[in-house]
Amino acid sequence: MSAPKPNPLPLSTPFPPAVRRAPVGTREKPLPLIIDCDPGHDDAMAITIAVARPEINLLGVTTVAGNATLPRTFENARRVLALLGVPDMPIAAGADRPLVRPLFTAAYVHGESGLEGAEMPAPAGRVHEAGAVDLIATLVAASPEPVVLAPLGPLTNIAQFITAHPELLSKIAHISWMGGAIGEGNVTAAAEFNAYVDPEAIQIVFSSGIPCTMVGLDVTHLARMGDAEVARLEQLGNRAGKIFAELLRYFAIFHRDRYNWNFCAIHDAVAVAHLVDPDLVAVVHAAVDAELGDLQRGRTVVDWLEPRLVERGRLANADVAVGIDAPRFANLLIDAVATFD
Ligand code: BDR
Ligand code: CA
Repeated sequence: MSAPKPNPLPLSTPFPPAVRRAPVGTREKPLPLIIDCDPGHDDAMAITIAVARPEINLLGVTTVAGNATLPRTFENARRVLALLGVPDMPIAAGADRPLVRPLFTAAYVHGESGLEGAEMPAPAGRVHEAGAVDLIATLVAASPEPVVLAPLGPLTNIAQFITAHPELLSKIAHISWMGGAIGEGNVTAAAEFNAYVDPEAIQIVFSSGIPCTMVGLDVTHLARMGDAEVARLEQLGNRAGKIFAELLRYFAIFHRDRYNWNFCAIHDAVAVAHLVDPDLVAVVHAAVDAELGDLQRGRTVVDWLEPRLVERGRLANADVAVGIDAPRFANLLIDAVATFD
């Protein structure tokens, strides 16, 4: 097993090698995981990995407003649970808007419903009426092992959980978040979508003392599914493969129109795949802060230069993803879809 290598980012200083701090599940000891999401095409693929892989014990799913409004992300997540054949999975809806700001959605990426492109099965899941924060607290309190959280949207629900349940924070082993970036943005030049929507929530989560991983655009823009991979999904011959191929063909439209790319970036799935495959993602240790001002709203400021951290008296509060084995990721995703009907 070789340590994953950083990809060359357009930076003049090479990243120092770093040992990941996120736990990895094994078949013998699966990681207890809660996914908080806003499906979202890539959220759906992330949930698929979590259900498919024996290294993860998915305890529940919570939803947040982000890619679409809360009723839509909740319904979409429930449809994904139906597709994956887990109708008893606990699920709850959380925040219908960011902590401070008005909601900004991404219909221009995922379509008006948040999950356009395929006819999905009827919603399923065991609905926890008391809401997302209560479901997270209930599952964490009941778990004999510390639990990992994988937020795949704006961090609103996770920030609310942290504020409401300080007594449970020692039972959170790690937070693996898809969001932010060292370099570019995808909403503005400065900010990635999940970071842009609720930057105040980032500050609460990343200063909570819980070990975090930030899986940002620097890496997720390399986590690609193009025509060849979509054809492989279709050729699986199962219902899940057919539906995911249709979903990704829709998702590809934004990537073509915005970037002239002939593939789509499956952002959220990287944050979950990182928890099952230790050879997939390279990280640096860094101090992460979110910019709250208007011009650079949601920019994640990632300081990974050790001497500067020492000068600033600042400890690294996160692992930040800086490299990915892209072909390995595509295979992991396709293999996960292959396990379903
Ligand atoms: C993130 O924004 C959403 O559109 C995706 O689901 C992903 O979580 C990528 O910037
Ligand atoms: Ca998402």
